Amino acid sequence: MNKTIKSYFALAKSNTHSHEFIVRDLEFFLKSMGISDSIITLKDDFDLSKEQIKKIENFFSSYIDGLPVDYILNESIFYGFKFFVDSRVLIPRPETELIIDNILDFKLTKNSKIVEVGTGSGCIAITLAMLMPEIKIIASDISNSALEVAALNRKLHKVNNVSLIHSNWMSFATENSLDLVISNPPYLMPSDSHLKSLTHEPLIALTSKNGSQGFIDIAHQASSALKPGGKIIFEHGYLQAKEVCEILQEYDFYNIVCNQDYQGLNRYTSAIK
Ligand SMILES: C[S@@+](CC[C@H](N)C(=O)[O-])C[C@H]1O[C@@H](n2cnc3c(N)ncnc32)[C@H](O)[C@@H]1O
Repeated sequence: MNKTIKSYFALAKSNTHSHEFIVRDLEFFLKSMGISDSIITLKDDFDLSKEQIKKIENFFSSYIDGLPVDYILNESIFYGFKFFVDSRVLIPRPETELIIDNILDFKLTKNSKIVEVGTGSGCIAITLAMLMPEIKIIASDISNSALEVAALNRKLHKVNNVSLIHSNWMSFATENSLDLVISNPPYLMPSDSHLKSLTHEPLIALTSKNGSQGFIDIAHQASSALKPGGKIIFEHGYLQAKEVCEILQEYDFYNIVCNQDYQGLNRYTSAIK
């Protein structure tokens, strides 16, 4: 085969029956390699270097193997910001962007003690830190490799108001010390059928015992670590609102409010200690 941009677009087109978005994703990939928009738009017989050919062939084999395009590009867009991602962290999901809007409505000040537990790529904590440079956030994860990625993203965005900490949720926090706990914990059941299509993402970021153990452990720790009047907010599965509400009630939280995602599904629950 003649190895030109044109030939690779033809190859992508021939795979659209099984990979609907492959042409669009090839365009993203070529852009990320620094190939200009005009060359991509013309899909011309532009000759490629050996190194470029190797990268494009890797793109095709990884893509056809089912590696998510964000991992191939090592990039994910969250709330309009670019985040580095690889298989050490969950790819940020669009619905998680709305937890940011929920939190922007809280009255946070430079003195607020804010913790995000289970930070993964750091997308929630770093986005909040960029949008509210006056606040400080501590972001924890139990996975050291996830924390390495969060540190890369913190550097990428030149953010100096996020501290990263290796911890089992907020077990580092003292009693009655926090104003806000944020978490999008792993919430799939280990038997969830969606896991079949999520084989490249870290299991520790996806599943938890019964799907709800993360909420129970976090609510339990937060019921001691939050100050009276402090707030907790969870992202959860759209069928878990009732269960999360019951867990929060069990730990004596009040003012429990559930908000919806872009599709109108129950997705974020907040409460007060
Ligand atoms: C669903 S991911 C969320 C990642 C990121 N906050 C986001 O919203 O895209 C859950 C994260 O919780 C972390 N995690 C799982 N168990 C934990 C624990 N016991 N303590 C702290 N973090 C934990 C995982 O490593 C993973 O990064």
